[in-house]
Amino acid sequence: MSVSIKSAKEIDLMSTAGKYLEEVHDAMAEIIAPGISTWDIDKYGEEKIRALGCVPNFLNYSGYPASICVSVNDEVIHGIPSKKKILHEGDIVSLDAGLIYKGYHSDAARTYAVGEISPEVQQLIDVTRQSFFEGLKYALPGNHLHQISAAIGAYAESFGYGVVRDFVGHGIGTHLHEDPEIPNFAAVGRGILLRPGMTLAVEPMINMGTWEIEILDDGWTVVTADGEYAAHYENTILITDGDPKILTLSSY
Ligand code: MF3
Ligand code: CO
Repeated sequence: MSVSIKSAKEIDLMSTAGKYLEEVHDAMAEIIAPGISTWDIDKYGEEKIRALGCVPNFLNYSGYPASICVSVNDEVIHGIPSKKKILHEGDIVSLDAGLIYKGYHSDAARTYAVGEISPEVQQLIDVTRQSFFEGLKYALPGNHLHQISAAIGAYAESFGYGVVRDFVGHGIGTHLHEDPEIPNFAAVGRGILLRPGMTLAVEPMINMGTWEIEILDDGWTVVTADGEYAAHYENTILITDGDPKILTLSSY
C-alpha cells in the first residue's frame, strides 16, 4: 500500500477542487424540498459541476450511471437518481458528490431533512456530522489513521447507532479512491502514520439501527438491513503540520 504525499502545487489544485465541490453542495442544498425527484437533484448538481469547468467523477465510475449519489431514508449510500423517486415531507436525503478539477478529485457528502422531520431522525443526522468532527480531532501529523476511525465509531456508538462496516473512507488525489482505506470504527492495528500532505476522504455512514446493510438488485443502492434510517457525512481533508484543513468546507 502506498499513500501519496501531495506537493504544494497539488494541494493548491485539490483546494480548488474542494472549494468548487462545496459550491455544488451549497447549490444542491437550496433545491431540497418536497416534490422534487432525485433525478432533478442529479441533473442540477451535474450542471453546476460542469458550469465550474469541472468533470463529475462518479459518472460511469465502475458503471455508476449518475453524477450525484442520492440516497433516501433507509438508503445508506449509492442511491441511483430516478425521475420516479420523489422526495416527500419527513424524508431524509443524503447527497454524495465529487468532481475533478485539472486532474484532481474532491469528494463530499451531506444528509438533509426534507421539510419537517422527527427529532430522533434529526439527531441521527447531527450525530453523523459530529462523528466526522470527532474523528477530525485526531487528524494530526504523527497520529495514526485508526485513531480517527476509533473516535468516529465510539461517538456514533455512544448513541446506540450502527456504524457501517462494509464501506469505508479513502485517500483521494489524482484518483477518487487511493490508499489508505479509512474505517469508521476501531480497526485492527494502528493504521498508517499520518503525515503532512496526505489528502483523505473521511466519510462516516451511520445507521439508526443495525450496522448491517444489503445491496439492492440494481447492484448499487446500499440499504440498511433493518429498514431504519441512515445518514452520511463526508469531507475531503488535508493533513498539515498542525490542524487539518477541510478542503470541502471553507467555513471550518
Ligand atoms: N463518495 C463515494 C465514495 O467515496 C462515491 C463513489 S460512488 C460511485 O466511494 F458512484 F462513484 F461509485
Ligand atoms: Co468517498
